[in-house]
Amino acid sequence: MTREELIGINAGIVKTVSSNLIQHSPNVIIIVVSNPMDTMTYLVHKTTDLPKNRIIGMGGALDSARFKYRLAEAMDAPISDVDGMVIGGHSDTGMVPLTSHATRNSIKVSEFLSDDRLQQVAEDTKVGGATLTKLLGTSAWYAPGAAVSALVQAIACDQKKMFPCSTFLEGEYGLNDICIGVPVILGKNGIEQIVDIPLSDAEKAKMKESAEGVSKTNGLLEL
Ligand SMILES: NC(=O)c1ccc[n+]([C@@H]2O[C@H](COP(=O)([O-])OP(=O)(O)OC[C@H]3O[C@@H](n4cnc5c(N)ncnc54)[C@H](O)[C@@H]3O)[C@@H](O)[C@H]2O)c1
Repeated sequence: MTREELIGINAGIVKTVSSNLIQHSPNVIIIVVSNPMDTMTYLVHKTTDLPKNRIIGMGGALDSARFKYRLAEAMDAPISDVDGMVIGGHSDTGMVPLTSHATRNSIKVSEFLSDDRLQQVAEDTKVGGATLTKLLGTSAWYAPGAAVSALVQAIACDQKKMFPCSTFLEGEYGLNDICIGVPVILGKNGIEQIVDIPLSDAEKAKMKESAEGVSKTNGLLEL
């Protein structure tokens, strides 16, 4: 099966499932997981009347967990001491691990790791999903399930918690008409705020490249 055919099949399922969800539960908040996730999130945005705060793509929460694991491993630190985020497209080539913002107990990780080691951590994070798929023989389910459950908990318990999620952008990060991973605040209304943080020049360039890749995939949708 070609990638285009697979996207066509997933798009059909995502359209059917989202319209059924809305029919039976008009106040639904949809968390999109199916891949290519950013494009499927965009599809829900384009083919339903749901407000953008109620359409959330899950990818960054999982990728960030993998990023934090790799950082903790590299620094020989407990993962609970590490904070970090992955934004951008949810794909091996699209992910943008924010190494310049990652910290160990509030101290920038660059104080503990060389540029080369940080680069390696970023690369290992990007192939995290593919590495697991190769080992398992199927796509991962435990960590994605745990990540979705964290998003649901933030919404159900109105936690106002921050996660990188795919959301429809209207100028944030210099991007328009695209769903892609950026930090958002999740609460009872779904996405309650998009957090537009300053990026380094290198991260800006990676985000732009990532968005170009997502837009190209969006071009395969029949809207
Ligand atoms: N966003 C992420 O981080 C992330 C992580 C892992 C997997 N994924 C993606 O999630 C998707 C599912 O992966 P999986 O490993 O669970 O696949 P899977 O094949 O194990 O499960 C797919 C499920 O969808 C059901 N299904 C198929 N057609 C349906 C329809 N029309 N209506 C309702 N249900 C239908 C099937 O019965 C099956 O239970 C894939 O697109 C995968 O790439 C995303």
